[in-house]
Amino acid sequence: MFMRKICLYFFMLSVFCQCVYSQDSQTLRALSLDALKKLDTVEPVPFTRTTHSDAQWFPEASFSLFIHWGIHSVAGLEPSWAMMKNCPWQQDFYEILGWDPYLGKENYYKLLKEFNPPNYDPDKWIKAAAEAGMRYAVITTKHHDGYALWPSEYGELSTKQYMDGRDLLRPFVDACRKYGLKVGFYFSPRDWGYPGYSQSMDYKKPFEFPHGWTNEKNQEAFDRFYEYTTGQLSELLTRYGDIDLIWFDGMGWQGIDDIRTEKTLAWVRMIQPHIVINPRWGGKGDFTTPEGFMPDEPPEGWWENCVSWSGHWGYSPHAPFMPDSWVLEKLVKIRSWGGNLLLNIGPAGDGSMRPEYYEGLSRIGKWMDLCGESIIGADGIRNWYSFSNVPVTRRAGVWYLHALPSHEGSITLEGVPKPQKIEMLNFNVPITWFTYDEKTQKLSINVSMTMRDNLDNVMKVYWDEEPDMQVK
Ligand code: GLC
Repeated sequence: MFMRKICLYFFMLSVFCQCVYSQDSQTLRALSLDALKKLDTVEPVPFTRTTHSDAQWFPEASFSLFIHWGIHSVAGLEPSWAMMKNCPWQQDFYEILGWDPYLGKENYYKLLKEFNPPNYDPDKWIKAAAEAGMRYAVITTKHHDGYALWPSEYGELSTKQYMDGRDLLRPFVDACRKYGLKVGFYFSPRDWGYPGYSQSMDYKKPFEFPHGWTNEKNQEAFDRFYEYTTGQLSELLTRYGDIDLIWFDGMGWQGIDDIRTEKTLAWVRMIQPHIVINPRWGGKGDFTTPEGFMPDEPPEGWWENCVSWSGHWGYSPHAPFMPDSWVLEKLVKIRSWGGNLLLNIGPAGDGSMRPEYYEGLSRIGKWMDLCGESIIGADGIRNWYSFSNVPVTRRAGVWYLHALPSHEGSITLEGVPKPQKIEMLNFNVPITWFTYDEKTQKLSINVSMTMRDNLDNVMKVYWDEEPDMQVK
């Protein structure tokens, strides 16, 4: 009797759970279908930079985290590119590490069955990022390999098929919200796992148009691909509440010129009106994304520079992390030109991060405790190099002069008034050893080497009247 009651109880419980689950998934489905319906009505409009008040956090954000995570992480290989032969940026694998990272398509997709991270704790990842001053995080929801980190109703390559429907994005979004970071979704529309997507898997060989289809048939194939892509996007844009940033990574289909950029971007904004969009779907977006290098000139408008902290985009168990001084130097230079640094890390396939990630962020966080005001949310002065020998950032009535480790000798500024006072943020001390020449309006600050450390030393200059330089 007792056993029967217990069985009945478990039976009822399982029916209840299934109902809740299917109700939930039905609601989610309905939300995304609703969003998709709007795509039929939206008119393409010329793209202009967002003026939405809830998007204006972006140019202030300064420092952020890029996360490349997916099935490739299990093998510590370059996201998606590991299936391609002769990929130039995998050379160090052959030449330094002495092994061939080329897996080929078939072996690459064998990793699908190995990825189900037992140690995934994005709360830990994001807490560390927040403590280091980061203001947003962007995760690869789907890289070029086409594997979606959420259970998608579209296509055959997502956690729906390979992880029993586990949603890896939800805990990430929750963690970002908990620690006050804006939520960014990287999404690669170009999708090498999509049946019929034409893509040469040898970097040295030009892309071919292998299908032998008529233009008409190819257009139909593109239309289906577009439906699949926007279907996935409708899920990303409706399942997780407010998404602050969408980071596309290439849209294209052999033989098709009209990739519906303006229509799609107008639709994305219709669903998430405050969203910030990067420029990698048809080249239109709210900001520019120089990748892996610092531009020679300050870019116009909002911009972001993405770089990898330890050599590769994906999990690289052996590559050394670049030192803190390198990270801060990038951050200072980018910020002095009004941009954001998007610093990349690849978590391991089991969901853990290398200890260097936490150690580095904690040291940077300590620097931020003292000097963060000079970077996070501070304005750049884009033409600083025309009057200063170190990068300059500012806030109302004060300037921050950044003496990076490579800087030697005095800090000099020309054509400025006499400052009211100067402090050094790193040690929280007033600086008295500066000279000012009224005739030439030249300010020189002599910082003795004993007052320097191997990070960025910041002089905070207070003005009675702030010089009028080109801000932002
Ligand atoms: C390039 C690479 C891709 C990487 C991205 C990051 O588009 O193809 O692997 O994710 O840059 O900016």
